[in-house]
Amino acid sequence: MSRRRILVTSALPYANGSIHLGHLVEYIQTDIWVRFQRMQGHEIHYVGADDTHGTPIMLRAESEGITPEALIERVWHEHKRDFDAFGIGFDNYYTTNSPENRAYCEEIYGSLQAAGLIARRPVEQFFDPVREMFLPDRYIKGECPKCGTKDQYGDSCEACGATYSPTDLVNPYSTVSGATPVRRESEHFFFRLSDPRCEGFLRTYTQQAGHLQPEAANKMLEWLGEPGASKLADWDISRDAPYFGFPIPGTLGSKFFYVWLDAPVGYFGSFANHVANWPAGAAAIDRDHFLKPGHDTELIHFIGKDILYFHALFWPAMLEHAGYRTPTHVFAHGFLTVNGEKMSKSRGTFITAASYIAQGLNPEWLRYYYAAKLNATMEDIDLNLADFCARVNSDLVGKYVNIASRCAGFIGKRFDGRIGTMAHAAPGTPPSLLDDMRAARTTIASLYDAREFGKAMREVMALADRANQYVDQEKPWELAKQPGQEARLHEVCSTALNLFRLLTLYLKPVLPKLAHEVEAFLGIPPLVWGDATSILAPGHVIHPYRHLMQRVDVKQTEALVAANRETMPGATVKPAAAAADAATSAATATATATAKAPAAQVGAAAPGTLTIDEFARVDLRIARIVNAEKVDGADKLVKITLDLGGEQRTVFAGIKSAYAPESLVGRLTVMVANLAPRKMKFGVSEGMILAASGEGPGIFLLSPDDGALPGMKVK
Ligand code: 2FM
Ligand code: ZN
Repeated sequence: MSRRRILVTSALPYANGSIHLGHLVEYIQTDIWVRFQRMQGHEIHYVGADDTHGTPIMLRAESEGITPEALIERVWHEHKRDFDAFGIGFDNYYTTNSPENRAYCEEIYGSLQAAGLIARRPVEQFFDPVREMFLPDRYIKGECPKCGTKDQYGDSCEACGATYSPTDLVNPYSTVSGATPVRRESEHFFFRLSDPRCEGFLRTYTQQAGHLQPEAANKMLEWLGEPGASKLADWDISRDAPYFGFPIPGTLGSKFFYVWLDAPVGYFGSFANHVANWPAGAAAIDRDHFLKPGHDTELIHFIGKDILYFHALFWPAMLEHAGYRTPTHVFAHGFLTVNGEKMSKSRGTFITAASYIAQGLNPEWLRYYYAAKLNATMEDIDLNLADFCARVNSDLVGKYVNIASRCAGFIGKRFDGRIGTMAHAAPGTPPSLLDDMRAARTTIASLYDAREFGKAMREVMALADRANQYVDQEKPWELAKQPGQEARLHEVCSTALNLFRLLTLYLKPVLPKLAHEVEAFLGIPPLVWGDATSILAPGHVIHPYRHLMQRVDVKQTEALVAANRETMPGATVKPAAAAADAATSAATATATATAKAPAAQVGAAAPGTLTIDEFARVDLRIARIVNAEKVDGADKLVKITLDLGGEQRTVFAGIKSAYAPESLVGRLTVMVANLAPRKMKFGVSEGMILAASGEGPGIFLLSPDDGALPGMKVK
């Protein structure tokens, strides 16, 4: 087999959010594939980066009172920490805000311009006259043109489901400043995807050579439309200042490359940086061998199906017409659901990588579970938490680790750690089991290569079942008690450990950390695929066995969900004003989220409790935050306008340390609606909103489950 030379990427995560279990489907999928190819002896370069540009990152930094550079630096460290924890072995993890990326963007843009593929024309867009910036659609809200519900985004109404464009909104407002946006025209730059050269290229590229999965290639045909009636529209690649990104050459800093232009180019920027940091003395890598046409290298992108359009149309067309190589494959995967439903913050299933680690769960449990679920299609995969526990415990602990834990001790205690000869038994038992296990290497390798990890795991676990049957049948624990059975005990345990070694090799792309521990315990060099044909030779000395993997307890997953629920059970729920600013608190009572009503209410409440009637006097209502702004002269307060389903209220809440005011606009929360108005230094507070806080840092505003509407009573 010839040595493949492959540049592999995973999609670049935005630098304004945490890595969550949805992201990890892709990084784990890519990492398993990369580790497998490396074990085959291929040359692999796996690069990634943070996707750092664009309006949301600029505004997020502004709301935190820091520069975008400071924000992306901080988030880079968080992302890197999470990837390291999950064993994602990038050869280089970089940033799109790099000189290498900027140089590639400028060069690619220059080539497209020279090829006559850049057009300029005026575009009319919403403009925020207060903030003096053009507004991406997601920053405009208003009343639904169909049903009149307030605070709807510019594409569809959450209340009645109507779809429309932002210009249809009634009384639109900018969520950045609250101002009424105006329509304003400016010149934009377009990549001329509608040019017959692009269309012709894409009709071939998307349908040939397995560049795309069959279902993705079909999707592209839909997007391309009938030949002669192409649906491809030119792609707007510019944004006006202010914008955090790379300035477009020749525009005197007034126009910037749209983030989606520089993001995929960031793959090349990261690779160039990787090549530049390649250790002196190691065989040099020529970066153009991977980035320019005419070389026998491969460029492979792993992505989510939601960003196919960018990777299967815009990106290859840009590369093709700028003199670069095009991707060999774009491998798209589906979305993650948790317990059969979309990940949800209120259900606690929007689980961050950091919280998974903080709760003490083993990252390799998740790697294995995802591997067992993954295939080469774009189907969604489900993380069912009960099934996760069952499968990890049954397959990894009950089947795989169990083989070593039942046999290794005898080798250590009875034979000075020395491996003996392999068993020669009747047909159907080793060495034919060992032969079968070795022979499986070809099938398992093809499954890994084809990204059919679920099938590969089933093969491996079927072999583990057979190895366990062998141990069950030979019963080393009984042989150990029988006089004269020393040789047989030695043989059985040596055979079982050889089987265990092979299973470790097959699982190594999925469980690299565990495999490393096994290699240390067995006293062997790092396993590569070719080692499937060798054995632990008689006389080889292993190290004392230490238990390799704990079982996962269902309570751990329950705690994980609880930790990710937006309203954390067990945390004290108190008026938000009191949470951070006791001095200005309008609190008169404190409730707890976990407080349970007594089984029977008899007469007056005991001290420290309240009767149901007393509790019923508190008018708790669902409210929608329609405006939120900072309060001059008050460090901790946010002035919030709440809609209670027709009626509006103003409250001052001490939550500024935890929430940027603009991030609150549009969300639902819970308010105490019958609190006596309270005159404060900055105005009158007409109620309070509820938030949770615990011993540690953080204030967590309460949110109702999906479906609750402003004005609903909470009881
Ligand atoms: O969808 C996203 O999360 C993007 N940040 C992915 C970018 S992938 C590549 F093009 F950089
Ligand atoms: Zn509506």
